Amino acid sequence: MTMTYRYFATAARGTGFLLADELRALGLQQVRESGAGVTFAGNLADGYRACLWSRLASRILCELGEFPAADADQLYAGVSALDWPALHQPGASIAVQVTGTTKTLTNSHFSALKVKDAVVDSLRAARDERPSVDAKDPDLALFVRLRDERATLSFDLAGRPLHRRGYRREAGEAPLRETLAAALLVRAGWPAVAAAGGALLDPMCGAGTLPIEAALMASDTAPGLLWGTAGPRGWAGHDRKIWHGLMVEAADRHEAGLAQLPVMVGRDRDEKVIEIAKRNAAVAGFADHILFEVGTVESTEPPASSKCIGTRKGARQPHRLPTISQTGCARMRRIWRSGRNAKESNATVYTTQTCPSTRSQSTCTGHSCTCRSMHRLRRSTR
Ligand SMILES: C[S@@+](CC[C@H](N)C(=O)[O-])C[C@H]1O[C@@H](n2cnc3c(N)ncnc32)[C@H](O)[C@@H]1O
Repeated sequence: MTMTYRYFATAARGTGFLLADELRALGLQQVRESGAGVTFAGNLADGYRACLWSRLASRILCELGEFPAADADQLYAGVSALDWPALHQPGASIAVQVTGTTKTLTNSHFSALKVKDAVVDSLRAARDERPSVDAKDPDLALFVRLRDERATLSFDLAGRPLHRRGYRREAGEAPLRETLAAALLVRAGWPAVAAAGGALLDPMCGAGTLPIEAALMASDTAPGLLWGTAGPRGWAGHDRKIWHGLMVEAADRHEAGLAQLPVMVGRDRDEKVIEIAKRNAAVAGFADHILFEVGTVESTEPPASSKCIGTRKGARQPHRLPTISQTGCARMRRIWRSGRNAKESNATVYTTQTCPSTRSQSTCTGHSCTCRSMHRLRRSTR
């Protein structure tokens, strides 16, 4: 019999509505925005699909149980009642994070210790194992939510925060979180622009997060594909066969997607950070597909038909940002022309239907295009 699980996908503040749309587009059921994330229900393959394909979720939590937790004893008893040997992979490190309170459980650090004690005691009694605690990078991350005198206990299905795609080995100043960069691109309408043969230029690309996320989207690459074959970790219930099947499907889609990539360019005035961006893009598998070059915003002339999206320092919530629109465009052009606010910008994405290099109205056809950008890109990677 196929088990149905309840999942909670966490997301950066302000991106829940984008995440809900993304999860629906992945074919997931009972998708609802809820507080700091989105709930959905489904079988294990559905949870794995979200882990592998979501670009916007921070974590995919899988619910293990819900029980009374008015006080520490109830919390301990509820956690102990779960079948930990069947949940915990031998040797896996653990960590516990608690949010919320009940009448007597008001200190989340204390509550987390109680939960950890219950797990450790259960495993010690069952198989004489005392799992190690790794607060920074646990194999099995447990999450407890206290509310209305009850606890909901979940674990991180992927066994890692999803923004850690694996390609950003180095970063420059104030790098954008990968999931937030993806949210910006979705909000900017990049997937549709890319599909229509448009181009992308990030004139202050830093470590290349936006162009790399743009390439992941345009090539139909599952972000989870970059983890390699390891897949979820720490959970004894992990089904390698289901995961492997999804990975094979994702690898096929990636191969097909690479053949139709649009032009993507990252520029930055800092030579060192451009080298970092190139190395990151190479790890992500896009060494031959994104052109990185040294240059200032002030020397970058946006073509007349450009559509822009920008973030200003401190603006972290994509729903507050301008969507692609003439208004956004005019603002960005003013910024670019004066160069005045360039330093204040956190990130700028610029998408256009015309080739950014030739500035012609003809649409760049991507890798086979004869425009200057593609020519240089081909030459530099020869
Ligand atoms: C906040 S960082 C961008 C981070 C990037 N989104 C990432 O995820 O790594 C801003 C970048 O803008 C660059 N920068 C600042 N002023 C610039 C200018 N006038 N022209 C070009 N690049 C500029 C800096 O060198 C820096 O790498």
